Amino acid sequence: MTTSYGAANTALLKDPKIQFPTFRGLRSSNSLALTRPLHSVSVPSSNLSLIRAVATPAKPDTASQTKRSKVEIFKEQSNFIRYPLNEEILTDAPNINEAATQLIKFHGSYQQYNRDDRGQRNYSFMLRTKNPCGKVSNKLYLTMDDLADQFGIGTLRLTTRQTFQLHGVLKKDLKTVMSTIIKNMGSTLGACGDLNRNVLAPAAPLKRKDYLFAQQTADNIAALLAPQSGFYYDVWVDGERVISAEPPEVVKARNDNSHGTNFPDSPEPIYGTQFLPRKFKIAVTVPTDNSVDILTNDIGVVVVSDDEGEPQGFNIYVGGGMGRTHRLETTFARLGEPLGYVPKEDILYAVKAIVVTQRENGRRDDRKYSRMKYLISSWGIEKFRSVVEQYYGKKFEPFRELPEWEFRSYLGWHEQGDGSLFCGLHVDNGRIGGKMKKTLREIIEKHDLSIRLTPNQNIILCDIRKAWKRPITTALAQAGLLQPRFVDPLNITAMACPAFPLCPLAITEAERGIPDIIKRVRAVFEKVGLRYYESVVIRVTGCPNGCARPYMAELGLVGDGPNSYQVWLGGKPNQTSLARSFMDKVKVQDLEKVLEPLFYHWKRRRQSKESFGEFTIRMGFEKLKELVDKWEGPVLLASSRYNLKLFADKETYEAVHELAKLQNKNAHQLAMEVIRNFVASQQNGKGE
Ligand code: HEM
Ligand code: SF4
Repeated sequence: MTTSYGAANTALLKDPKIQFPTFRGLRSSNSLALTRPLHSVSVPSSNLSLIRAVATPAKPDTASQTKRSKVEIFKEQSNFIRYPLNEEILTDAPNINEAATQLIKFHGSYQQYNRDDRGQRNYSFMLRTKNPCGKVSNKLYLTMDDLADQFGIGTLRLTTRQTFQLHGVLKKDLKTVMSTIIKNMGSTLGACGDLNRNVLAPAAPLKRKDYLFAQQTADNIAALLAPQSGFYYDVWVDGERVISAEPPEVVKARNDNSHGTNFPDSPEPIYGTQFLPRKFKIAVTVPTDNSVDILTNDIGVVVVSDDEGEPQGFNIYVGGGMGRTHRLETTFARLGEPLGYVPKEDILYAVKAIVVTQRENGRRDDRKYSRMKYLISSWGIEKFRSVVEQYYGKKFEPFRELPEWEFRSYLGWHEQGDGSLFCGLHVDNGRIGGKMKKTLREIIEKHDLSIRLTPNQNIILCDIRKAWKRPITTALAQAGLLQPRFVDPLNITAMACPAFPLCPLAITEAERGIPDIIKRVRAVFEKVGLRYYESVVIRVTGCPNGCARPYMAELGLVGDGPNSYQVWLGGKPNQTSLARSFMDKVKVQDLEKVLEPLFYHWKRRRQSKESFGEFTIRMGFEKLKELVDKWEGPVLLASSRYNLKLFADKETYEAVHELAKLQNKNAHQLAMEVIRNFVASQQNGKGE
């Protein structure tokens, strides 16, 4: 077994005045072997001008640190995430053992079983790709599309982190599927597990300096923090490495150990044997564009440009994260907060310093508290910043002022800025199947299009010639992929996690339940007189882990029992405030009892342009609860429903009926939706 040695302390020793007798760095059960004695190092005086950060506080030597979670032991004994997975995938059993189940996450897969099936467990594997900025080549899209049919459940799932998920792969097929993805320039390495996950960046293929710079930075951060020890290629393609060349600045930043960040003799210079205490998430964006839910990430990086639009550096947020546990108030969702600004050439070093601070100090005894948000909460941002500065070797500059954030969906047709067009398509809950899947494949293959996946489970077709716009629009519409003005606005921003039947942690439905929930919210809107184009951000998850980021929604529903949800209120349409828990254990069939009074009073009492989220914050939960408790139904306005009968020829009727079926609606519902959206867009001056 290879063991790497704790290396993180040398940064702290660069200042000869500072001594840390009790700081022991990364712990292990075999802590003698994993730490090394500290000695003072003299530093050339030229370096001292750089290192002005305050002393790093010693890591308290408490019992909680010597206790380690089981996963820490699996990692340590795995020879860098190989053993026993390499043996377990070869056995005849349909599943793998506990240690391998933990390790396979680092390879981008989860073992699952179908919870709808009674009796014996039917095991399968979910594979998640890693696509920084959501970029997917034409070849990789077609490969994933094929694999879903040949080895999966026939659908592709676009996720909230700009990746694909392939569900239902059997153990005996894993190696074929993995190696096919790798050979087609895809990867699942590090899509799950205790390391840096997929790096988000705005998906729009805009040829603008700041967007391109954000996307290039996301690519570089992803490369910087990719595992190096080769376990992935050893297990799935017998050691053959299929990777593209890395930019030299990435290699340099990874190998740089001038501030004691690295394990110099380890095959994993940044991660060592123990990797990170928990998952780690990074997003990069440009000012105003919050398509990436920037504040929900461990690190949020924002490009800062000068007056000529030339990128100069980055603002950095730290400490966001969604996951929590019901009835455990010490666990919580948290928004990222400002850490500081760095010049552009320093970004990889600053990111590495933050990652190393978490590697060394994040809790490894209890995985419920291992995310970096808990470290920052317990230390406070000042102390956290001063420790990061030791590894970075410089002080952070003050955070630059930023304009307001906006949510951008990129749906519909847009100019890329290079003569080509892109087309963003709304996909309900990111699930691509049936006719939609077939049509998308045909269009992507025929026109050799590349793809981007958005952090809202949607897809963008890129590099489209203007002449193709009309035929592509028609083909898409025939497959139920409508232009955004024909999709219910409630649906456009709604998200649900997969939950049942495959997620082992689901307490109740999410993806399968949300279509009905949206229909019912729409019906409540109609009943209380809200207009069709008005909307609220709805997100539903099957448990408190928050995979569809429900704690940022204006209306978040978080499964807290069979067919029941905790209701969260107070997020904003631009995803900049954290929702709070409003009510527990609301049975799904009783949702109207809560939603009707809330939407009715929003309609009646809101201030000009006040979103539902802002309204719920201003009113306060006590007042809102009183309104819900006293609710006796809306004072109905003079009929808010007028009869609009529709007659169509047989062909049109059948076509609408087919389209409606694709969207889980009836023909009348779809026809009304299209009419309403059309009228609304004309009224808004957006008609074509
Ligand atoms: C402690 C356990 C877990 C936590 C705290 C957690 C948390 C999260 C969060 C916050 C996201 C949002 C993506 C983002 O980072 O922006 C996410 C995504 C996701 N997670 Fe989890 N997760 C957990 C376990 C699982 C499990 C067991 C599964 C299923 C096997 C799962 C499936 C997913 C999926 C499918 C996505 C993408 C969501 C989508 O597009 O619907 N997660 N996870
Ligand atoms: S939120 Fe819970 S139920 Fe939904 S996918 Fe994540 S872990 Fe599963």
